[in-house]
Amino acid sequence: MQGCGDAPKTTMSWRDYHEWTKHSVESLGRLPHLLDWANMPDPFRHYEGVPILDLPADPPALETSALTALHGVAGPTAAEDGPTFLSQLLFHSASISASKLVPSTGSRYALRVNPSSGNLHPTEFHFLARGLKEWPDGLYHYRPSSHMAEQRAMGALELGLAGNVAPIVLILTSIVWREAWKYGDRAYRYCSHDIGHAWQAIATAAQAMGCENFARGCFPDDYVSQFCRLHEDEWPMLIIELRGGSIPLGKPRSTESIWYGGHANQISKESIAFPRIDRIHRATKLSHPGTSDIAIAEPASTGYGRIKLPYAASSPRTFGEVVRMRRSALNFVGGLRAISLAQLSALLTVTTPPFSADFAAARFTRLYVYAHRVDGLEPGVYKLWPEDATLEQIKSGDQRVVAAGLSLGQELAGNACVAFSMIGDLERAAEAHGDRGYRYVHFEAGAIGHRLYLAAEALGLGATGIGAFYDDEVHRYLNLTSEQGQVVYHFAIGYPVPDSRLNT
Ligand SMILES: Cc1cc2nc3c(=O)[nH]c(=O)nc-3n(C[C@H](O)[C@H](O)[C@H](O)COP(=O)(O)O)c2cc1C
Repeated sequence: MQGCGDAPKTTMSWRDYHEWTKHSVESLGRLPHLLDWANMPDPFRHYEGVPILDLPADPPALETSALTALHGVAGPTAAEDGPTFLSQLLFHSASISASKLVPSTGSRYALRVNPSSGNLHPTEFHFLARGLKEWPDGLYHYRPSSHMAEQRAMGALELGLAGNVAPIVLILTSIVWREAWKYGDRAYRYCSHDIGHAWQAIATAAQAMGCENFARGCFPDDYVSQFCRLHEDEWPMLIIELRGGSIPLGKPRSTESIWYGGHANQISKESIAFPRIDRIHRATKLSHPGTSDIAIAEPASTGYGRIKLPYAASSPRTFGEVVRMRRSALNFVGGLRAISLAQLSALLTVTTPPFSADFAAARFTRLYVYAHRVDGLEPGVYKLWPEDATLEQIKSGDQRVVAAGLSLGQELAGNACVAFSMIGDLERAAEAHGDRGYRYVHFEAGAIGHRLYLAAEALGLGATGIGAFYDDEVHRYLNLTSEQGQVVYHFAIGYPVPDSRLNT
C-alpha cells in the first residue's frame, strides 16, 4: 500500500470529512488528480477456486408495470424454483445490460442494470440462500460478468442479526478503492450513493417479483466481514432481507457448512491508501448490532407550497423493459421540448413512498427542483413538500446556466427539462443514528435517485445522477443555513441525446 499524504488519525468526524470533500473552485485547483490508467481497478471481483453455479440464462421477464412496482404494488410470481428466482432477481437488478464502444481502441466495456458513479461499480453483491427449491443453502457471491454465482460456502449459515431467518439475505459491499482511484477522498460519498442505487435495484425487482424486502444499515461491520470472509478491500455496507410467498421454497435440508472461501482477485497492481476514507469509514462503523428503536427529531422546517401537483402521468412500460433499458444520458437535447406537469408529478411521486429499512423511520433528504422546461410551470426553483404533494416556488426565472454551473459546469444539468438538488439533513441523521447516519443520508439520496432513473425511463425520458457539484455554492444559491441541511446529490432528467457508442 502506498501512502497518500498525511498520517492517519483513528477516525474523522463526518463533519470534517464532508467539509474536506466539498468541491469548490479552490479545492479543484488544489487537488489536481491524474488518472493512472495502467492501474485502473478491475470492475469485476471474482472469488477464485470455488464451485460456480449457473443462473439460468434469459429468466422470465418481469411484466408488471414499472410505475406500479415503484408505488409498492407487488407483482405476480413467475419463478418456479430457486435458480430461476435468483436469476430473475439479479438479472433485473445487478447484471450487465449493455455495452459501449471506445472509438479510439475499438474495445467495448460493460454497463449494468444498476448505475454507478464513473461506471466504476464499487458495489459487490453477496447473498445467503436458505431453503430455496433446487438451490443449495449457502453463501454466494454474484458474478455479473457471466451471470453466475460463486459458492463461497455451503450449508445452513445464519447471520443471526434478525429474529426470523429470511430465505434470501443480500449483503452489499463496497470496494472503495475502485471509486477512489478516480475521485479521491470524495469517493466514500459516491460509494454510499451507489449502495443506495443498488439497494433500490434489488428492492424494486423484489417488489416486481411479489416479495417483501427489508434493509438493515445497522449491523456490526467487522462481524459481518468476518462472517462472509470478505477480502480486506471489501466493506459491508447494507444487508437486504427478502421474504414472502413468491420465493420458491423446497423441503428443509440440514447440511453441515463447508467453507470454500475462494481467493479474491487482485483488482489492480497497486492500491493507493486514502487515510481520510479509512477514517470516515471507521467513524461510521458499529461494533454491536445497534437498535432501530430511535426517537427522531422533527425536521427543522415544515411548510407547504402553493402549487398542487396534478394527477401523475401513467406509463404502459413493464418493469423488466425499464430496468434493462435504463441508461444515464450523457447530455440532454436542449431547445424547446418540455415535459408535462403530470410527468413531473409522476417523477416526484415515486420518490415519496417510505423506504423499507431500519434507518428509514424518517426521511432526511429534501428535493429542490430546477424547472427549465415543464409545461404549465414557470421556470424557477421549487421546493417539494411531499407531505401534501405541493411545490413551493423559491426562485423564478431561467435556471439553466445556474443549474449547469452548480453541477461543476456540466451542461447536462442545464439542457435537461428538470434538474434537482437533494438536500440532506446530516445533523438530524447524526442525532438519530450517530456517525452511521452519514452513510444513511447518502444511501437515501442514491435510493431516491434510483427511483427517479426508473420513473424517467418508464416515461420515455432519460436521467443522470450527478455526484459532482460545488457544495457551498448550492447552499448559497438556495439560501440554506447548515441547520437546513447540506447538498448530497444532484440529478437531471430530460430528453437524452442519442449515444451511437451504445449497444443494448
Ligand atoms: C452516484 C452517481 C454519481 C454520478 N455522477 C455523474 C456526474 O457527475 N456526471 C455524469 O455525467 N454522470 C454521472 N453519473 C452517471 C454515471 O456516469 C453512469 O451511471 C455510469 O457511467 C454508468 O452508466 P449507466 O448509468 O448508463 O449504467 C453518476 C452516477 C451515479 C450513480
